[in-house]
Amino acid sequence: MKDSFASPAFTHLASAFTRRRQYGDRKLPPGPDGLPLLGSIVDVRTDALEMFERGRREHGDTVRYRFGPFDMVAIHRPEDIRTVLLERADDFHKSPSYTGLELVIGKGLLTSEGPFWRRQRKLMTPAFHHKRLLGFCDHMVRCSSDLADEWERLAGQRGDTLPVVDLHAQLLSLTFRIVGLTLFSTELSDKAGGMGPALAVVLEHANHLAVSMLLVPPPWLPTPRNLRFKAAMKVVDDVVMGIITERRRGHEDTGDLLSMLMAATDETGDVRMSDRELRDEVATLVLAGHETTAQALTWTFMLLSRHPEVERRVVAEIREVCGDRPPSMGDLARLEYTGRVIDEAMRLYPPAWLIERQALVDVELDGYSIPAGTLIAISPWTLHRHPSYWRNPEGFDPDRFLPEHVGTRPRYSYLPFGGGPRQCIGVNFALYEAKLVLATLLQRFSAELVPGQDHSLEAAVTLRPANGMKMWLRPRA
Ligand code: HEM
Repeated sequence: MKDSFASPAFTHLASAFTRRRQYGDRKLPPGPDGLPLLGSIVDVRTDALEMFERGRREHGDTVRYRFGPFDMVAIHRPEDIRTVLLERADDFHKSPSYTGLELVIGKGLLTSEGPFWRRQRKLMTPAFHHKRLLGFCDHMVRCSSDLADEWERLAGQRGDTLPVVDLHAQLLSLTFRIVGLTLFSTELSDKAGGMGPALAVVLEHANHLAVSMLLVPPPWLPTPRNLRFKAAMKVVDDVVMGIITERRRGHEDTGDLLSMLMAATDETGDVRMSDRELRDEVATLVLAGHETTAQALTWTFMLLSRHPEVERRVVAEIREVCGDRPPSMGDLARLEYTGRVIDEAMRLYPPAWLIERQALVDVELDGYSIPAGTLIAISPWTLHRHPSYWRNPEGFDPDRFLPEHVGTRPRYSYLPFGGGPRQCIGVNFALYEAKLVLATLLQRFSAELVPGQDHSLEAAVTLRPANGMKMWLRPRA
C-alpha cells in the first residue's frame, strides 16, 4: 500500500492546536488537567475505559480531555450524540485516529468521507438488503456446525476430561471463514495460505496505531514493526487483488457480496467500482465484518457461563424453536430471547467501544463551546453503563431489551452499531450471524469458563479479551 501516513491527521492536529489558542475566552467543558504538556495521554494509553468512566463521574456528561496539542470532548447526553451522528453529521468527520486503519483499508466505507463516501454507501447498500443476507444464512450455520463437529471430535479424543479451547481464537477463525464464504465464495484460509496469520499482523498493527495517539514513527521508517506490517499487508493485498482479478476474468456472478459490489452501478447506470475501490471495500468488509462479531460472541459466551439461569433460558428457546435440527434462517425471528441476550452482551461489552469524530466547524453542545478541530468521543462502553438510562448498569439482564423497555429509553442511549448516516452497514449481517452461530453451538455444547484466568480487557479498535478466553466444552446430552 501507498505510504500516506498521517498527513491529513497532522493537518487536523495543527488546526486543532491553532483553534485552541484562538478560543481561550469561550465556555469550554470541564475536564481533568492531566500532566503538563501531555494532558491525559498516559491515562488513555494505560486504561482508556476507566479514563472515560472516571471523567463522566467526576465532571459530568460533557468532559474535555487534553492530549498533547489537541483537545477531545467526550459526550454522553443522547441528544448531543444525536446532534453529532445524525442531525449535523455533515459538520463532523471521522477523527484522525482512523489514520492507522486507512493504512489497511484505504478509502473504504469505514474511513472515506464526503461525496465519495456517499457514492460508495449508495452502491453498497443493496448488497446488505435483508433478502440478500438471508442467502448467507446457510453458510453461517454450516460453518458453525463444522466447528461443533470439530469440538465433538476433540471431546471424543479426550474421553472423560473436557476439552479446553481458546474460544476467542476459535470464534475469530469462524467469523473469518464466514466472511470469506459470503464475500468471495472462498475458503480464505486454504486459498490464501498465509492470509490468516498476515491478517493477524495487519490487525495488530492497526490496533497499535489506533491507541498510540499518532505518537509513532512514520510508516516509511524501516522499523522492525513497520517492515513486518508492510510484508503482511502485501500478502493480504495480493490475495484480495488475486480474487478480484480472477472474478473479473471469469465474468461469473456467484451471488456473493463481491459479485454484488462488482455489478453495482451508480444512478447513471454505468459507473462501477474500480479495482482499487473494490480492494478497499473488500478489505474493509473483511476487517469490520469479522473481528467485531467474534468479540460480540466471545463476550456473550463469557456472560452465559457466568449466568447459568440465562443460559438455561436460551437453550430452552433454541430447543423449542429448532428441536434437534440445526437452526436456519426461518428461525431468526422466533429466537427472540437469544437476540436479547446478544443485545445485552453488546451493552456490557460493546465491540466498537469508541466512536470518534472531529468537528469541522464551531458547535455548541450541552451549553459548551466546542471549537472546530476538537475531537469528539462517544464511548458506548461508558454510555451503556450510564445510571440515567440503565438501572443496575453492571447487571446482566437480557429482558432490558423487551420492546416495552426499549421504548422507554432514548434511541441514542444504546449504540453498539453507531447511529445516523454512518451507522454500521453490516448491522443485520452481524445480528443474523451472531444469532445463528450462538444457536448452532449452544444447541450442541455448553461452554464453561476455565477458572483462574486473567479477564483483562484490551480496548483497541475493538474491545477484546487481552488474554483470550479459555473455556471447557461440555457436549449436551
Ligand atoms: C457485532 C458486530 C459489529 C459491530 C458491533 C459493528 C459496529 C460498527 C460501528 C459502531 C460502526 C460505526 C462507526 C462510526 O460511526 O465511526 C460500524 C461501521 C461499519 N461497519 Fe460494522 N459492526 C459490526 C459488524 C459489521 C459487519 C458484519 C460488517 C460487514 C460485513 C460491518 C461493516 C461496517 C462498515 C462497512 C462500516 C462503515 C459504514 C459507513 O461509514 O458507511 N460491520 N460498525
